[in-house]
Amino acid sequence: MNLPDMQAAKKRTSENVDYIYETPQITDNFQGKKYYIRTYGCQMNVHDSEEISQLLENIGFEETKEMNNADLIILNTCAVRENAHDKVFGFLGRCKHLKKENPNLKIALCGCMAQERSVVEEIMKKHSYIDLVFGTHNIHELPNYLMNLHNGLNIEVKSNEGNVFEIGESYKRASKYTAWVNIMYGCDKFCTYCIVPYTRGKERSRKSKDILKEVSCLKEKGYKEVTLLGQNVNAYGNDSEDELDFAGLLENVAKTGIERIRFVTSHPWNFTDAMIDVISKHPNIMPYIHLPLQSGSDRILKLMGRRYTREEYMELFKKIKERIPNVAITTDVIVGFPGETEADFLDTLDIVERCQFDGAYTFIYSPREGTPAAKMPDTTPMSEKENRLHRLNEIVNKYSLINNQKYLNKVTNVLLIGESEKDSAKLYGYTDTMKLVNVQCDESLLGTITPVLITDTKSFSLDGIVEK
Ligand code: SAH
Ligand code: SF4
Ligand code: F3S
Repeated sequence: MNLPDMQAAKKRTSENVDYIYETPQITDNFQGKKYYIRTYGCQMNVHDSEEISQLLENIGFEETKEMNNADLIILNTCAVRENAHDKVFGFLGRCKHLKKENPNLKIALCGCMAQERSVVEEIMKKHSYIDLVFGTHNIHELPNYLMNLHNGLNIEVKSNEGNVFEIGESYKRASKYTAWVNIMYGCDKFCTYCIVPYTRGKERSRKSKDILKEVSCLKEKGYKEVTLLGQNVNAYGNDSEDELDFAGLLENVAKTGIERIRFVTSHPWNFTDAMIDVISKHPNIMPYIHLPLQSGSDRILKLMGRRYTREEYMELFKKIKERIPNVAITTDVIVGFPGETEADFLDTLDIVERCQFDGAYTFIYSPREGTPAAKMPDTTPMSEKENRLHRLNEIVNKYSLINNQKYLNKVTNVLLIGESEKDSAKLYGYTDTMKLVNVQCDESLLGTITPVLITDTKSFSLDGIVEK
């Protein structure tokens, strides 16, 4: 048994990243067996689930969308906030019940929660009906673990994060038109509230030649859009002396000629002028940037370890708006960080008013064990934090709507990627600027970039018809 070491991620060294090429093993032990996978958390986890699905199908499993008839249930978990933890343990209760009815059912838990020592200990004490816990650094070994499962709880969690595993095109991608492409793993920023550097380890960049090969291959298969993924995409290459930086990588990805390129997430601290130049120069790099603010108070930004001031954030914001025509910018904001006063919060509201974001993901601060902020005194009552969240959301929604209204009666390109959930006569897709649009149109337009006339606007979506 190998328990995760929460401090291991802090022991940074400059050793080279090892590349290990793994070929999935083929066996017919699991032929016809069904797996059900449930994914919580960010795009990183969504993409990891695409890898897990492929690895399972390589050894004979088939996917089921019904957990009741699964032979294997995989829970890919997120640890970023406490409520993510509660959802997973709630769901595990249902799994336990199913296992009583079907003792052959196997239950596996992976993802960021698996990297938390306290979670593994809780599972050992109270949830030993789980068969397998595996971490974020050893997903590629899942077939091995399943083939060698012993009775009872198997724990396979590693805190060694020096490696990048190249699995080539081995992803069961959820979409035929848009694809996630990892460019780097981990995070070295250690914002004081955040657990990600502990669960995902230090920053490791993939080699640009591997990334470019993957993008070219996706283009050949007919993919229209790639989203470059990393916790801090603009720290790309910092861990390697002879690698491109993010601006250089982005430029080369643009040159592959794939129609649409996006990236998440960029940290304001690493956002260079060279990046802005590359984005404004290449029409296939989409004018959409997610630029997490977290707080508008200098005092709180400092306590959070964010490495920028409100002035610096606003300058960067202004520069991006000036130099990238029609760019949309969204953000993340945390309210109720330990010690946040009403005055600090008003500074946040002020910057949100000034920037008039296209959208924002807003959160109440959630203490995460092992992070520095969890030890900071926090006397603000939860009711006050909820009130701040509510006040913030009102402003955020006001500007989302105002920004969306600018599209009314205009024609904009939409990549149509699926059937609208609410109305099967409609397809949905996204504008260059990442606005969700529901479009009255023929199914044959699925997978195409189509000019759409916007006929109605709401806070969270647009409606449109195909421009003739
Ligand atoms: N790497 C990205 C995002 C990581 S997590 C970045 O730096 O922007 C996504 C968002 O969750 C963060 O931007 C932050 O707003 C929020 N978040 C992270 N830790 C949190 C915590 N302990 N409590 C509340 N929100 C948190
Ligand atoms: Fe977390 Fe900060 Fe890293 Fe983002 S940059 S993943 S918020 S530590
Ligand atoms: Fe959650 Fe892990 Fe992503 S903690 S936000 S799934 S990196």
